[in-house]
Amino acid sequence: MNTGIAADRGKACQDLVRAARAIVDAEGPTDAALGKIRDLLVALAGRGEALFPRGDFALPDGGGRNHPLELEDGDGMGLYLTINMPGKEAAPHDHGIWCVNAAISGRELNRFFRRVGETGVEAINEVMVEPGSGMYMTEHAIHDTLVVGDEPSWGLALYGYALIRFPSVVWFHPEFGTMRASPSRRPAEAA
Ligand SMILES: [Fe+2]
Repeated sequence: MNTGIAADRGKACQDLVRAARAIVDAEGPTDAALGKIRDLLVALAGRGEALFPRGDFALPDGGGRNHPLELEDGDGMGLYLTINMPGKEAAPHDHGIWCVNAAISGRELNRFFRRVGETGVEAINEVMVEPGSGMYMTEHAIHDTLVVGDEPSWGLALYGYALIRFPSVVWFHPEFGTMRASPSRRPAEAA
């Protein structure tokens, strides 16, 4: 690992999280606030290999992998470099917390859904997350993902809580009209 790049990356990621914290503290995790954070994350991802060289991050064994970049102390945000292999898909799900994504390379199709009835979902729009673009989701927004093309998607993901302290994620299975919730990783006192 090039220590100069690693130091630059560390500083840039710290600055991003500090800026995101200031925006969320001032405005709450609104559409407008998350849109501003998305633009900052797209700019950071746009620095590409100069800041995130491929050799510094191991590829996934299977479908996808998250490399922590910057975690706030306490019960704070988590910034990750995510790598998903071609064809990797995720069924519609609600993270229970806001998130912002930006692409470094590769293409990931995100579709967004609304709830229908007790357990159903219906697609309402979609965004291709590719270099120069990103997306955000407010709390309880629902999306699914698919890595399209034949190269892995490399991207940055900022979540309102670190993945190790993630709330329950609700997964929807439209073909069966069912849903299921994964266990929360939130400590009892913070849930
Ligand atoms: Fe997701």
